[in-house]
Amino acid sequence: MNQLQIAVAKGDGIGPEIMDAVIQIFNAAAVPLNYQYIEMGKTYYDAGHRSGMTDAAKQAVEELGILFKGPMETPKGKGVKSINVTARKTWSTFANRRHFKSLNGVNTVFSKAGIPIDITIVRENIEGTYGGVEHMLSPDVALCRRYISRPGSLQVHRFAFEMAKKEGFTKVTCAHKANIMKMTDGLFLETFYEIAKEYPEIEANDIIVDDLAMKLVAYPQQFQIVVLTNLQGDIMSDLCAGLVGGLGFAPSANIGEHISIFEAVHGTAPDITGKNLANPTALLLSGLMLLRYLGLMEQANLIENALLYTLEQGSHTGDFGDKSIPSLSTQAFTQTIIDNLGKAPANHAARESKVLSTFEKPVAPSDQKMMLGKHGQGVEKLVGMDLFIETDLLAYQLAERIQQLLPATLKLVNIANRGTQVWPTGSKFTECVDQYTARIEAIEAESNMVELLACTQQLASQLNFSSIEFLKYFDDKAGFTLAQGQ
Ligand code: NAI
Repeated sequence: MNQLQIAVAKGDGIGPEIMDAVIQIFNAAAVPLNYQYIEMGKTYYDAGHRSGMTDAAKQAVEELGILFKGPMETPKGKGVKSINVTARKTWSTFANRRHFKSLNGVNTVFSKAGIPIDITIVRENIEGTYGGVEHMLSPDVALCRRYISRPGSLQVHRFAFEMAKKEGFTKVTCAHKANIMKMTDGLFLETFYEIAKEYPEIEANDIIVDDLAMKLVAYPQQFQIVVLTNLQGDIMSDLCAGLVGGLGFAPSANIGEHISIFEAVHGTAPDITGKNLANPTALLLSGLMLLRYLGLMEQANLIENALLYTLEQGSHTGDFGDKSIPSLSTQAFTQTIIDNLGKAPANHAARESKVLSTFEKPVAPSDQKMMLGKHGQGVEKLVGMDLFIETDLLAYQLAERIQQLLPATLKLVNIANRGTQVWPTGSKFTECVDQYTARIEAIEAESNMVELLACTQQLASQLNFSSIEFLKYFDDKAGFTLAQGQ
């Protein structure tokens, strides 16, 4: 039989231990796949590969279209960019699907209360603060840019609704903070309802993300699919992992148009690396998402039932389960699942699922298809700019200096510090840092780039700029927010 080949990266820390365990289970269940092991992870970053993988590894993933990976190490703070995030972004895996389901034998406050949990988080995977586009504006002030795009948001919302339709869900919820971040989360929410209109049979609602955090803990059964921006989705999915027993039970699939990556939500667990203690369940559940994605439903159900039976019997690794039953090593737990292939749990057996789509190997898009497409339309009008200025001056002193240098065609509208207006009106109680934003607008209805840049040249003789942001209207709608108190 001509078996499909997938790329496998064992990863760092406990990665090799749990990946070996999962492949052992796949082989015992006669999963018809071939594995091409690729060189990717911290070792390869340390060896000088800036993306954390060799050229051959990159080529293999782009040719095969599927990467099954173990966790990879990212040092905190300075240094290495996350190899995991780089892989997800480079290959445009725009939707991160994470499934959180109560498991027999994994006791939580909810299982004890008889409340079953079955929540799918769909997290936008490319944009948001995870872009990691950060700058120091002064030695004291750092700024992170949060990209939210219309095409990117449409893509992830469509994925969530398509998934709901194909898999029989009846409700999709969009979580956001559009009451505060009116432009970014506002766009995410607007595009959600745009897509929802195409799926009238599915209930669509939205919730502010902090309310979601509370309701997930108080009434988790209210939610089926929740779609969120990148960082909010990341945080909420760890909360959901807590509801079903921890990160050891949280699988994840990063789905793209061409390439998809399957991995556990947890990290490299350096504290237990090499000790034969790691729980392979989350990676195994991610592997089951992978098998179902490839249409290997029979094998996925066989393995899932063996896992559920194993958990129902009380077998467990050290990180969970009934403490009165001795815990098993990674290898012993793996062998127990293999021994249980063919058995099914008394309760909550694997959900029979249909083949929903057929996987096709990726074909690199032509130059014309590299752009996601422009959806927004309308007349663009440039009216001014926000100048980010590093100075120890007080706001009124800065205002005087700017006003002395401004041409007659432009006016200083206001000055803000950390997003709060401090000139022309403000409060003496607003504490400031050495980073102001001066909003300069055209006196007439419109300005132009040449006029604004000439003005910055004039001001640059006396002021130290950190950044410039242009103020535009799109179809008479302001493309910028007001400062707090403006
Ligand atoms: P972590 O998830 O590795 O560990 C947190 C705690 O959970 C530790 O006590 C660990 O022993 C335990 N744990 C995690 N997975 C387990 C498993 N399968 N079985 C039993 N116990 C398990 O998170 P941490 O310590 O914040 O991150 C360590 C490294 O992993 C960092 O370099 C981080 O950047 C990276 N990481 C990688 C991810 C990925 O590859 N997708 C995701 C999250 C973190």
